[in-house]
Amino acid sequence: MQLKEALQPLDIESLRKDFPILQRMVNGHLITYLDSAATSQKPKQVILALEDYYKRYNANIHRGVYKLSEEATQAYEDAHTKVASLIDASFDEIIFTRNATEGFNLVAYAWGLEHVKEGDNIIVSWMEHHSNLVPWQFVARQNGAVLKHIRITEDGLLDMDHFLSILDERTKIVSITQFSNVLGTINDVKTIGKLSHEKGAVFIVDAAQSVPHFAISVKEIDCDFMAFSGHKMLGPTGIGVLYGKKDILNTMRPFLYGGDMISEVNLDKSSWNEIPWKFEAGTPNIAGGIGLGVAADYLLGVGLDRIFEHTRNITKYALQKLSEIPGVVIYGPKEINLRGGVISFNVKGIHAHDLASILDRFGIAIRAGHHCAMPLMKHLGIQACARASFYLYNTLEDVDKLIEGINEARRIFGYVS
Ligand code: ALA
Repeated sequence: MQLKEALQPLDIESLRKDFPILQRMVNGHLITYLDSAATSQKPKQVILALEDYYKRYNANIHRGVYKLSEEATQAYEDAHTKVASLIDASFDEIIFTRNATEGFNLVAYAWGLEHVKEGDNIIVSWMEHHSNLVPWQFVARQNGAVLKHIRITEDGLLDMDHFLSILDERTKIVSITQFSNVLGTINDVKTIGKLSHEKGAVFIVDAAQSVPHFAISVKEIDCDFMAFSGHKMLGPTGIGVLYGKKDILNTMRPFLYGGDMISEVNLDKSSWNEIPWKFEAGTPNIAGGIGLGVAADYLLGVGLDRIFEHTRNITKYALQKLSEIPGVVIYGPKEINLRGGVISFNVKGIHAHDLASILDRFGIAIRAGHHCAMPLMKHLGIQACARASFYLYNTLEDVDKLIEGINEARRIFGYVS
């Protein structure tokens, strides 16, 4: 018990009280939520912010000259500032989207279609989520460019020699995940960005899994764009973020056209609003944006370094415990320093979906399937795997319950341990 306490840098008991859903009973057991990589749970501060907006100052933004609208506008704009502080950006470099997927699509349509020419190439990797793969397939096919994929090593790392061999003067876009949602690999995006820029490519970071977990500075990484989702970082669903460097955003054409993104409209032509509003057409997800700002504040309040240390301690413990179970295959880097709080695995003789269903009987929620990364599954030679992902509200006891659940599944399937 002492070891377990020593491993936890957060005041976990009081922190868990902020998350009402953690009191939920599922199938007669207190919930053990191990699927934060799919979506995180929400603290009461975020839930209350949504309620407060709808109860006290629900109005459209940037339109009304009355109190409620002014309050809503202020809160929505402040949320951009809060998210900007979280990643060390400026207010006008933060575009609210629906999710990370929409962020990639925005860049694909508004930058990619315009700048990628026939014979150019775009580089992604084998470990990308579909959201950072399919939009680039579209741009490449549409404009006659070639889509190239960085291979991964046996150990689940990006093969940097292979990257260097496919990167050239015709590379227009390099778009890479900072933290794989399947392998848990943490990629050195700073180095990848530097190498990409040396060849004149635009560098994009998929930060859907990383922004919730580490302290990030877009200035330090020096990426041109970064996309992430609100719902994985304690915020509401339906709200996400695209960060873009000011100079690039200012010269880009819009993505969606309509209300609020304009400066002047004539019958036959229009001019565009200043950034970020140029990229936020129509009435946005006002409540979601405000909630996301509160989530950013919450993360900064707890401290990203502490959150990272906490989840890494849990991951380390889980890797050790899982590896002690006969027949468990763990994917991704063996070296703990190269990975974050996501562990994908399979248990010999038990399909991942069966495992997830058995765990659910004990109130344990994990994800099973292809994790929106079918090419990676093919590379690993599997159709599906189980995945446990950890966040700031998880405990080492949650890992113990997972291990007990897996052992129970093995007993049910006749693999007695
Ligand atoms: N992208 C989310 C996941 O990896 C849905 O589970």
